[in-house]
Amino acid sequence: MKNDYLPYFWLTKCMVHYDTFSLLPGTLISALLSLRSNCTLLFVMLLASSKSPIICCTSANEVKDAITLFCRKNDTVLELGAELADVSSHLCKTIGEHGKAVLVDKKRRDSNTGRCKFRNVETFVPSPLDKPQKTTETLENEQKKSSFVDRVNLIYLDDLSDWKKKIFHEPNSCSQYDIIIMSISHIIGHDLYMTILSFANEMFNAIPVKSHPRAMIIKSKTLYSLSKRLVHSQRLFDGTTKIPDGIKRSSEPYIIAGVKVDEYRKTIPFTVREDDAILEVGCHFGRTTKLLDDAGRHCIGVDIGPKIIKNARKQYPNIQFAVGDAWKTLQLIKLRKTLAMEDELGYDLVYADIGGLSGADGHLESLSLLDSIGYALEPRCIVIKSLCMRSLASRLKFFPNEWNKFQAGQGKKESSSKGEEPKTKRVKI
Ligand SMILES: C[S@@+](CC[C@H](N)C(=O)[O-])C[C@H]1O[C@@H](n2cnc3c(N)ncnc32)[C@H](O)[C@@H]1O
Repeated sequence: MKNDYLPYFWLTKCMVHYDTFSLLPGTLISALLSLRSNCTLLFVMLLASSKSPIICCTSANEVKDAITLFCRKNDTVLELGAELADVSSHLCKTIGEHGKAVLVDKKRRDSNTGRCKFRNVETFVPSPLDKPQKTTETLENEQKKSSFVDRVNLIYLDDLSDWKKKIFHEPNSCSQYDIIIMSISHIIGHDLYMTILSFANEMFNAIPVKSHPRAMIIKSKTLYSLSKRLVHSQRLFDGTTKIPDGIKRSSEPYIIAGVKVDEYRKTIPFTVREDDAILEVGCHFGRTTKLLDDAGRHCIGVDIGPKIIKNARKQYPNIQFAVGDAWKTLQLIKLRKTLAMEDELGYDLVYADIGGLSGADGHLESLSLLDSIGYALEPRCIVIKSLCMRSLASRLKFFPNEWNKFQAGQGKKESSSKGEEPKTKRVKI
């Protein structure tokens, strides 16, 4: 290994073993970083170093409840995508008269649907730049506005490209926030979790690690679905998360993320059912394939290296192996027919352990692999060996679980000073 990569090697080891990169002193990190200006690596380290949980919500009501659970009196809060007066109003009430809210939304003046006229923040708090027309609604809200206007700053974006400057560096913004609320799908025009996550990561990267928010609350249906399905392997082992017995094969399967081969193999009793048709991509010499084959109906092992597959066949002659590429899903579909002689398409369970899933672009690489396997093979569950996905699994929080924890009493003591009790009822997951 080249000497100038050694610091990264040890830092990565710290991340793998302790999952606590953020505990390293900032000065040590900057000294190590100054050894080499590798922007990609810096990006990965910042991602790994952030510990702020990302609370995933699906509706405005959930965002309001998340505000009640996570915001405190006197907090400074950024709401990016503040189109719903109702949410902003709840936020202002929760942080109290000494709190500060920076509400950011896209400038919308030309709507002919009438939607923005009544939901844009202009109807909630008057803009310092541009006084709103006094509609019936604004007049009705006059009293409400006057109590918020001193501690609420409004920032309008022409589009998302100037967000960094406007959010962190303008006189009416702040450089540091206790909580960040993000609801940007109406601004960017779609709700794809990869875009939302990339944006969230950029946001974290724009803030020094020591000033990261206590939590980021995101409203996104696709991220919400991911947060429900993505499980840190340790949570399976310690019993805090269980894959529901009744779940069926789906294009949005459960995802178990772990690191190191032992952890990857240890998941087998938690995932495999006796009758499962299993696929392992990145099988190498087939040790895990053999364990999977023993536990389920059968397992096909696939690896990109022809010599590796030759070796695997020699070691385990009773198991089906094939040379193949994890990204070429049509090939993978065909294998079930050609090797296992079964007409059913796809697999019940997929294990994935290929290179590059923990590296510089590991998040995007892993998420796109999971999406392509999910949509093409529709398994019940995918187990992936990826440091990036495991750290994402520990940060993404499915809001109803947080709610249930609160209900179970964990949050009760703390919440007594937080203002209103959440209003919506949630079912047990
Ligand atoms: C860490 S090893 C797998 C170890 C194995 N899963 C086990 O439990 O023993 C990673 C394997 O992924 C294979 N690989 C890398 N890229 C691949 C791809 N695109 N498709 C299939 N296999 C790939 C490599 O050839 C290598 O054998």
